[in-house]
Amino acid sequence: MKSESLVSITDYSKEEILEVLESARHFEENPNQKILEGKVVATLFFEPSTRTRLSFETAVTRLGGRIIGFSDASTTSSTKGETLNDTIKMVSNYVDLIIMRHYLDGAARYASEVSDKPIINAGDGANQHPSQTMLDLYSIYKTQGTLEGLNITMVGDLKYGRTVHSLIMAMSHFNPTFHFVAPEELKIPDDYKKFCESKGIKYFEHTEFSQEVINNADILYMTRVQRERFTDLMVYEKVKDVYVLKNSMLDNSKENLRILHPLPRVNEIAYDVDNNPKAYYFQQAKNGVYARQAIICKVLGIKI
Ligand code: CP
Repeated sequence: MKSESLVSITDYSKEEILEVLESARHFEENPNQKILEGKVVATLFFEPSTRTRLSFETAVTRLGGRIIGFSDASTTSSTKGETLNDTIKMVSNYVDLIIMRHYLDGAARYASEVSDKPIINAGDGANQHPSQTMLDLYSIYKTQGTLEGLNITMVGDLKYGRTVHSLIMAMSHFNPTFHFVAPEELKIPDDYKKFCESKGIKYFEHTEFSQEVINNADILYMTRVQRERFTDLMVYEKVKDVYVLKNSMLDNSKENLRILHPLPRVNEIAYDVDNNPKAYYFQQAKNGVYARQAIICKVLGIKI
């Protein structure tokens, strides 16, 4: 198998997505395997992260590989003016795989074009977050028993939320119905609506986080309002607490409903939801290790 970067979830066909999910299941059953012995992986995080970096590093460690990298670009030569081009070319001399998060849309695609080693996009600006999508799909499959024909309700910052953007594209293989709940300022961008239309996917837009929309959902995908992406903080202040899910709002929800959130959470899910059996966001984050083990193997051309 050839080594290939994962920059956008659209780099993978439906069959490849299902193959990665099957490998994730394999790694959940047996997470400690010395598949990456002798391999070195770089984690280059130009933007803050807790889950993505630590779960990737756990995934590599459990597979017997070694990690180099940084979690704070202010300690690197980028502060001296070194370009992304030069940083990536340098690091690709040292390692077998680069996992990169960057604040600019398109940075991961650019890195994949200048690197002679595969790149995994760990989030680029408001654009894409494909490894999050793979763990989201794995979580949806585990909790629903299928990916087909689900009502997926996405709530919050649908404009800047890169996890939302990647998940829409991935779910398009599985005939979903989307409900997009967002204030006017954070509506889903037209490009994603056009994408749905081109694939014949049904979607509905709402500004009200109504009881009806909650009661019809199979998956409630809550998101944080992304303060770091606003150019006008007055707008952020206006919309930051626009939707808050409380436990009482789940009283008439479907039995199979699961609440997902890519995390970090700020105010959008009240703490009283955490003990509801329908809250799945912490298990979702745990699934990230298995999904990322599967992605790393696929990107390195290692057949499971
Ligand atoms: N979900 C996610 O990307 O979380 P981090 O920003 O903590 O990596």
